[in-house]
Parts: sequence; C-alpha cells; structure tokens
Amino acid sequence: MDERTKKLKEIKDEILHLSSSPLYADRIRDKVFPVIGEGNHFAKIVFIGEAPGKNEAETGRPFCGRSGKLLDEFLKSINIPRESVYITNIVKDRPPKNRDPLPEEIEIYAPFLDRQIEIIKPKVVVTLGRFSMQYIMNRYGLEKELGSISDLHGKVFETKIAGEKVKVVPLYHPAVAIYNQHSKETLMEDFQVLKTFI
Ligand code: URA
Repeated sequence: MDERTKKLKEIKDEILHLSSSPLYADRIRDKVFPVIGEGNHFAKIVFIGEAPGKNEAETGRPFCGRSGKLLDEFLKSINIPRESVYITNIVKDRPPKNRDPLPEEIEIYAPFLDRQIEIIKPKVVVTLGRFSMQYIMNRYGLEKELGSISDLHGKVFETKIAGEKVKVVPLYHPAVAIYNQHSKETLMEDFQVLKTFI
C-alpha cells in the first residue's frame, strides 16, 4: 500500500470510531456509514461537498444520489473521468434529515478534510456549495476575498496549502440544479473553467 493510501486509511479508521461526534449515535442507530471520500489519491482536482445525504450514508460513497448524478453529468461535460479526481465532504456523517451542518459538526470533521487535502496535494480545490466555500477560504488565507456564493461562483482564487500553490474554485452545490434549469446551466458553464486545469 502506498504512503498516501495508508494515511488516508488512518483517517477512515479514526472517523469510524469518532464517538465524540454528535452525529455518531445516529450513524450507529441507523446502521449507516460515514462517507470518507473516494477517488484518485494522486488527483489534481479535489471536490468538496457539504455532508452525506441518505444514499451516501447508506453506501458510504460521496455524491451517489441525485446530486451525484448531476456531478457526474458536469464532469462528463468537460471530459474529466470521475475516477481521476477525489471527491469528499466537509462533514463525514449524515446530518439528520439532511439539515445544514452545524458549526460544531464542521469543527469536528474539518481537521480530517485538512489532512486529506495535505495528503493528496491537489493543484485545484473545488468547493461545492457555500459551506465548503466558506470553510476552505477561511482556512487557507482567502478570508478577505469571501463573499456570497452568487458573487464568487466560477471564479479562481490562488492560495498556498502546505507551501504549495493551489487554486480554489467555488461552485454552486449540484443540488441547486435538481429543480432549476437556470442553475444547471450556470453550473455547466462554471465547470468549463476546470477544463483549463487538466
Ligand atoms: N451532497 C453533498 O454535499 N455531499 C454528498 O456526498 C452528497 C450530497
């Protein structure tokens, strides 16, 4: 097993036993799984969503329900195979009834996300939705550039993570495109910017 896979597995094992999380008891009661992340451990692009939904918690895989179908569609439109990127969330367990993640939930899971990013060392971090946008921009020195996602979506920001240059691209969450054709078109257009990074 390569070094990255080994370190990512350590993260998985820690999250599996994270009984201090406020979402742990629900996971055990509902007999569902945490969603750690999946994809290429040497990916150039890492996508960060919000938290698992029902399908994701049932399978342990990120973005495998309706939002995932849309994400797949957007990736396909720019010829990026899903297996070539890494996909994860800030919060690794499903919040009840898919409610927004609470600050204390983000606080407990975000250090795992930081570690995943530092292990994979992507050139581009794509945030999906406002929670991951806010977290990543605050965490990696872009707090002065923060604004509403309607102003920032599709823009490219430059920062450094562990001394390496990284681009941060905030995008809308694919779920906004489920019932809204206009948002779907916006996401489709915004995804085009990623083409320049592959
Ligand atoms: N929404 C997310 O933010 N993440 C998933 O994995 C699925 C839906």
